[in-house]
Amino acid sequence: MSFIVAIDGPAAAGKGTISKAVAAHFGFAHLDTGLLYRAVGAKVIAGAEPVAAARALDPVDLENDSLRTAAVAQAASEVAVIPDVRAALVAFQRSFAGRDGGAVLDGRDIGTVICPAADVKLFVTASPECRAERRFQELSGKGTDTTFETVLADVKERDARDHNRATAPLVPADDAVLLDTSELTAAQAIAAAIKVVAAARS
Ligand code: DC
Repeated sequence: MSFIVAIDGPAAAGKGTISKAVAAHFGFAHLDTGLLYRAVGAKVIAGAEPVAAARALDPVDLENDSLRTAAVAQAASEVAVIPDVRAALVAFQRSFAGRDGGAVLDGRDIGTVICPAADVKLFVTASPECRAERRFQELSGKGTDTTFETVLADVKERDARDHNRATAPLVPADDAVLLDTSELTAAQAIAAAIKVVAAARS
């Protein structure tokens, strides 16, 4: 039987950490849908045409460490405004969501567009400064040479593009539970999310 958990929110709010932990806790499969847009963005950087790249996307394309760079994130946010790119990625996401045994999908439009009938929806947020600080620590830890100010500017630019695009903009679904992680540790945020999912299952 399927059970769909939709987790949306802006960049670096903690969606990835929360989604992986929720999936592990309940034994559900997990799809980071940002990777789909990142994989298309990476192909565009390499010279491909965005819509063709989205239509030709292979799950193997998602298993690539280079998709985590800031340049690929920006390219992902740029291709994500193209309606035909989004349309090309819908079927893959819906089929993943409908698999037996439960699935967690995290992204920007899971609760609003991809799975409007999801069993539980979470919208995870945090202040831009807080998200930039987390992303800065993550990038510095990997040895990337950057500054907090650069990361904050990137976060704000991506937020604006994700919020303001015409197709599937980043907004909470009406029935999403809001989770602001600004003042929470990862463990607290995970515990709060697990509580919401457990309540929806009972
Ligand atoms: O979650 P992320 O940072 O990996 O996402 C990268 C970009 O992909 C993000 O800026 C917007 C886009 N995206 C989207 O439009 N819809 C999704 N469901 C997931 C990501």
